[in-house]
This record gives sequence, C-alpha cells and structure tokens, in this order.
Amino acid sequence: MTTYLDHNATTPLDPRVREAMLPYMGELYGNASSVHRHGRLVRGALDRAREQVAALVGAHPSQVTFTSGGTEANNLAIKGVSDALRATRGTEGRLLVGAIEHPCVLDPADLQSRLGWQVDYLGVDQQGRFDIKAFESVLNASNPPDLVSLMLANNETGAIQPLAELSAIARQHHVPVHTDATQAAGKIPVDFEALGVHLMTLSSHKLYGPLGAGALISDKTLTLSPQLHGGGHERGLRSGTENIAAIVGFGAAAELALQELDQRHAHMRALRDRLERGLAQWPQVTVFAQAAERLPNTVQFGIDGMHGETTLMKLDMKGIAVSSGSACHADHADPSHVLTAMGVSADLALTAIRASIGKETTEAEIDHLLRVLEQLLNDPLNSAAAARVSQA
Ligand SMILES: Cc1ncc(COP(=O)(O)O)c(C=O)c1O
Repeated sequence: MTTYLDHNATTPLDPRVREAMLPYMGELYGNASSVHRHGRLVRGALDRAREQVAALVGAHPSQVTFTSGGTEANNLAIKGVSDALRATRGTEGRLLVGAIEHPCVLDPADLQSRLGWQVDYLGVDQQGRFDIKAFESVLNASNPPDLVSLMLANNETGAIQPLAELSAIARQHHVPVHTDATQAAGKIPVDFEALGVHLMTLSSHKLYGPLGAGALISDKTLTLSPQLHGGGHERGLRSGTENIAAIVGFGAAAELALQELDQRHAHMRALRDRLERGLAQWPQVTVFAQAAERLPNTVQFGIDGMHGETTLMKLDMKGIAVSSGSACHADHADPSHVLTAMGVSADLALTAIRASIGKETTEAEIDHLLRVLEQLLNDPLNSAAAARVSQA
C-alpha cells in the first residue's frame, strides 16, 4: 500500500465516477453529432455533463467548452484570444500573465511573445500572492494588456489568489481576465460570475474524474479562434468527436465535488493542519506560503540541506508518493519558478517537497509521512549532507 499524497498531480478515479462512465465504454456508443438514436443518446449524456460541470462553478451550460484537459483549455484561452485579436486588428497585442502560472499558460504566452506580442509577468509577494499594486499600475499604463491570465490557486504552494479583486480592477479598465481554476475547483467554492472573470479553465482528473477531459468556461464576450479545426464540434470552438466516456466522468465528478465540497474541505483541512503541526516541530523545515490563504489540501515545504528530489525518492522507497517543486533535467534540477518568484533562495527552493492531500487520505497516512520524515531528519547521513550543503 502506498501513501498517496500527490493529489495535485492527479487524483484517483472515484469508483462512483467509474460506474457512471462504464456504460459509455460498452453498450452505449455513438457519435454525438449523429442524428440517429445512438447519436441522440450520447448527445443527451454530453448535455447532462455540460450542466454538471457548469453547476460546479455557477456557470451556464452554454458557457462550457469541453477540451482534453486543463492544458488544452489554457492554450485555447491564451492562443484563442490572441489569434482572434490579431485577426481583427492586424497587429500584435499585449498579454499579462502570472509569474507563478502553470507551464501550460506560460508556454503559450511565451509563444505569443516569439510571435511579436509583448508579454509581461505579474509578480507575487513572499507568500505567493499576486501583487495588487503592481497589477493596478500595469493596468493604469498607457497601453494596458489585451488579456490577463492569473490562476485562482497555485498548484505548488496552494496559495489562493484575490481573483475577484483583481478582475474587478481589470473590469474598470475593460481588460478581460482568464483564470486557471484547475487546482481550485473541487477544493474550494468557485463561482464564475462572482469572480468576474471572462474565461476559466477546469480539469477533470484533479477532482476524481478521468484523465483526458477538461473545460474552458467562457462568458462569451470574447471572440476565441479555435485551435483545433475540423467538424465544428463544441460550437465550432473545438473540433473533434467528443470523448463521451471521459466527459460523462468529468460531469459525474463535478456533481460529486459540488455535493461533497464542504465535507471534503473540512476533512483535508484537518489533515493539512495535522501535517503542519508535525512539521512545526523541526526548525529545519520551512512551510512555503504559510501565511497565505491556501487550498485545504496543499503543503509545500523545504527541509534545510535535503535535496527535494532525494527526499522524494527516499519517501518513495518507504511507500509515500509526494512531488518536488523542481523541474528535473538529465544532469541537474532547476528550482521551482513559483518559489523563485516568491523570493525563496535557490538552495532552499531545491529542497521543496509538496504533499497534496486527498478526500480519502487518512490520519494514519499523515502520521506515516511524519514518521518517515523524522527518520530522514535523524539520519546521520542526511545531517552530514546538510552540513556539506550549508558549508558550500
Ligand atoms: C494549475 C494547473 N493548470 C493546468 C494543469 C494542466 O491540466 P491537465 O493535466 O488537465 O492538462 C495543471 C496540472 O498539473 C495544473 O496544476
């Protein structure tokens, strides 16, 4: 048995979601675009899933465009808006994205910059929260951005952003806002209308649904250029025969997430607090973004002198799955761009470990992690390594 504490990477499929999907991987088949009864049947399932996903974030079903996941939805938002603007204006524009965004926002933004767009990055404070003053000054500048993309909650630290406040400022300047709510949805209440954003990204496999389904929610005030061309599915925004089983699963997972939100939140929060109480015993441990409002399930911490990748592997050998914040290459690791943006030193950032709790995580699993960490901290080999690092 493993202690799985990597729910921000992906969640296990909820057995109730699997049950809902199974008929669509067997007896119920059809192409939702077909006019005959098979087509109508799966079209009905697609419509229901659209309602379930919309309900999770208080949106209207017509505002939901299904995609293959969060990555595609973020690409559709950034490239879709940029391409549409370029097509109507004939010139390159300007984007503002968060410095702590997921690579599937940062990379499409980088692509636009190589295509001649001006791309700016909104920084964060030491607790990983977007800098509202800096945001105001970017928007007050003579050439404000054409689109802002700022995530609702960060996947590494769990820091929840003041999105409603940021989008209210953007609205005063008539600047549209996209938010990546991939990590927030299913963990905290998310309301598309109340947040005042124009576009929002969701992903199924972060909330106990299957891999390979996601959505872009759009208030439809922005023109988006499709990134996949073909049969005109999803109202022309995303061609490709719909992955019905995955979308049905996404819908079922969204409905359960909404029904069980309070209870999941309380459960995960209690376990997160238990973990943080345990970590607080050790002066070598720093919990990142601890003073920020955070997702109830996420704890990212560094251990002085203990390389994150090594800790991760040692925990894995003891049956504990967590993640580290660094991007690994063949011969070296880069510190997390999120921690770097927060002003964390490279040395400390390279020790980062993220534990992300799930709805089925138990106290015993948290205690298991704490026990193994204690062994690692008391291991003379680790202390020797730590001493070497601090001398270096
Ligand atoms: C904040 C954030 N956005 C987007 C994604 C990508 O979502 P998907 O795996 O569905 O493509 C992830 C996945 O790790 C994420 O954490």
